[in-house]
Amino acid sequence: MSPSIRVSAPGKLMLLGEHAVVYGHPCIVTAVGQRLTATLTETEAPFLELTAPEVTIEGYRKPLADLGRGEIPKGAGFVELAVRNFRRRHPFSHGVKIETASEFSAQFGFGSSSASTVCVMKGLSELIGLNLPAREIFDLAYETVLDVQKKGSGFDVAAATFGGTLLFEKGGKVIEQLSVQSLPLIIGYTGIKADTVSLIDAVKRKAEKYPAIVEQIYGSIGQLIPDARSALERGDWRSLGELMDVNQGYLEVLGVSSAKLAMMIHAAREAGALGAKLSGAGKGDCMIAIAGTQQANVVKNAIAKAGGEVIDISVQVEGVRLET
Ligand code: PMV
Repeated sequence: MSPSIRVSAPGKLMLLGEHAVVYGHPCIVTAVGQRLTATLTETEAPFLELTAPEVTIEGYRKPLADLGRGEIPKGAGFVELAVRNFRRRHPFSHGVKIETASEFSAQFGFGSSSASTVCVMKGLSELIGLNLPAREIFDLAYETVLDVQKKGSGFDVAAATFGGTLLFEKGGKVIEQLSVQSLPLIIGYTGIKADTVSLIDAVKRKAEKYPAIVEQIYGSIGQLIPDARSALERGDWRSLGELMDVNQGYLEVLGVSSAKLAMMIHAAREAGALGAKLSGAGKGDCMIAIAGTQQANVVKNAIAKAGGEVIDISVQVEGVRLET
């Protein structure tokens, strides 16, 4: 039988610091308990074979020597360039068949592309017996994400690789595991898919037009992070909630909130949440709220009444791992 390896990586949720993190400020991200799984099997012919139903790729096949060249179907890019980049650093000549499966919808914005990229790096590393350290998995996967989408801080790659709740700076300049005991987070999905790259571009245009103003906002977002970190580590949900509310205010100023997000966020606050904000690039995907156990159900109902879908999911879960 051909050698086969199964690996899985978690999705992510940005807690605080989105957008500013692209310009060198810190953010805080947590890994969420729905995972993307990849099975990698060694094959004889020197081809990449890919089946990835979550991005509607079925039986895609390409010679290893041609990876990254010619036409690449939307959805196959991250895996194809991940295999190419891995082979550049750690050459191998046999083929590889990759099958992915996701517990979460690619619509939620939980980062299925970065989770699949990290899975490919970890899977190949195990398949050829290299056992690369997590830092190299991160570096290879971040390089790949930049090759495909040209921008991004890499916070999603870090969450998929290291798991837990992380203090993070662009490119992995800082990746620090925070010691957080519990995190009473409520997650509401807007039903709208956010386009991360075009939102980064929209904020950049605003920064080009009003550099002093936008720089100041980025700096102010960055300044929330040390206090948020300490609130998270102390379990001081009231302070964390206040800081999330302030962060939401700055994101409104950057122009990345939306009527739907604002409705869900205000509904959560009015129902007793200690704080609420959008999570990620904005304009869609998910909002998050922090609430004590007594308020949790009322807050969830309020989010649903405002048109959101509450997603019950654990947070700060383990990063990429081998599955048996
Ligand atoms: O849309 P998401 O969930 O991938 O979040 C994007 C967060 C940004 O800070 C806007 C971009 C980034 O790569 O950090």
